[in-house]
Amino acid sequence: MKEWLNRIPGYVSGKWGIAFFASTFLFILFAWFKTPEIYSPYLLTIGRWHPLVLHFPLVLLSLLFLADISQTFFKIKWPSNLIPVLYFGTLLFTFFSILSGYLLWSSGAYAGTLPDSHFKAAMFTYGILILSLLFFHFRKKNKFFSKLHVISLLAAVFAVYYTGHIGGTMTHGTDFLTEYLPLMNQKNEPGISEDSTQFLYEDVVFPILEVKCAGCHSTIRAKGGFSVSSLNDLFKKGESGKMAIVHSLPDSSELFRRLILPDTLNEHMPPRGKTPLERKEIEIVKYWIQQGAKPKQALASLPDSINNMLILQLAANLKTYKFDTKKSKLTAIQTEEELKTLAFDLELSIKKDSLSGGNLYLLSNLFPPSPFNTKKLLALRPYFKYFSKISLASTSLDDADLYYFSDLENVRELYLQKTKIKGQGLVYLRKLPNLQKLNISFTGADDQFLLDLLNYPSIKEVYLYGTQTNYAVIKAVESHKKGLKIFTEEGPYF
Ligand code: HEC
Repeated sequence: MKEWLNRIPGYVSGKWGIAFFASTFLFILFAWFKTPEIYSPYLLTIGRWHPLVLHFPLVLLSLLFLADISQTFFKIKWPSNLIPVLYFGTLLFTFFSILSGYLLWSSGAYAGTLPDSHFKAAMFTYGILILSLLFFHFRKKNKFFSKLHVISLLAAVFAVYYTGHIGGTMTHGTDFLTEYLPLMNQKNEPGISEDSTQFLYEDVVFPILEVKCAGCHSTIRAKGGFSVSSLNDLFKKGESGKMAIVHSLPDSSELFRRLILPDTLNEHMPPRGKTPLERKEIEIVKYWIQQGAKPKQALASLPDSINNMLILQLAANLKTYKFDTKKSKLTAIQTEEELKTLAFDLELSIKKDSLSGGNLYLLSNLFPPSPFNTKKLLALRPYFKYFSKISLASTSLDDADLYYFSDLENVRELYLQKTKIKGQGLVYLRKLPNLQKLNISFTGADDQFLLDLLNYPSIKEVYLYGTQTNYAVIKAVESHKKGLKIFTEEGPYF
């Protein structure tokens, strides 16, 4: 048994080993030229092992290289089996990595040109490795082969790291490695500079608020009725009825007051557990408010003391903030793209809501209307929080469909006239925190619905011409719900 084991290394670096690995190389190359679309769940499962297996060749090849050069140049004597065994492991795991990667790729999981480059680089690595095994085999015959062997091994090391780099770029993005290196990024985009194209609000205050507050205070999700999404939003009253920012008066500005409260108080912003503003950041917000909270105050016009503080103490923060902001904009663009595709697939119209600051969308049927069904609604459901107004008038939407509507957290207007609604489903709409306007003319809505209206949190206008409702009940509900107007007319479309 022992003797048998001892013979393995000889096989690996002998004719049989070389022939074996050369044929696996040709096998993958052949499969690649055929580029089949593979849908087998078993093959895909093997493909899923790729992220695990790929680390073996990286490590084994590095060890092989170290063992080899230390033996060649520093005359360290390793057991004679070590290098062949490392060759065997490296080649075998390279083969499995390429095979699993190939299976993952051909299942359609990746698109673009990177997978192609990744595959070519991997095959190059594998080819060079097999060559270097060949040179290793002949190294005793001729000194020349011995040199070629070391050179090819070095090339394989570079190739495997390059391959890994492309693979990493596919999964993590191009600047994953250097993303947080200030010096690397400084060149392309300084965090802050004194030139006349940078402004105190846009380039300093906004990025701070966006990164530290927008998670809870945006158009999509405005806790306390307050949003930092646009400059205008900052001058609106929140639920407390206090102005978030009062021009030139930081101490009367609710936003500033909450920043400097002791962080043991619940009113302190951001709430406990979230990254608070740094002292310098609070100082600059205060300075901006003191100066009148102007939209366009150029950094070049600020006194040196302020600019020095910005550049010396805040530039690095601002840089990462802007980077984070850019990333979240990217996802906003992605959402827009996805909604466009969805609109096309479902034969619906989805447009940006210009009043929402660009974050929300209007959804309506095309004209002439395409048939509507629950499936369409379910396809839209992951995007529900992006809609501010929805019109599905004159469709076959029914009470059961309304069940899904409870996720429409940002919807303000619903146009559901002339649908198959009989009434029972309308109860779900009371879960909508922002619904202000509802048109259900020509549906089965009845007095029960009218009573339910008392529980709708934000409702202001309801249109219900041609329903089973009773005038006396309408009047009674109106008198009990402040700010609610119920119209017995057909009402608007959109
Ligand atoms: C984790 C969520 C969260 C974060 C992050 C957060 N807030 Fe708040 N904020 C709330 C909640 C919840 C309320 C409503 C309760 C209250 O008034 O305390 C609120 C209320 C407010 C109000 C009062 C609105 C009003 O008029 O009622 C202001 C102003 C405010 N936040 C500013 C900020 C600022 C500035 C930041 C960033 C530094 C921030 N918040 C970060 C959750 C958050």
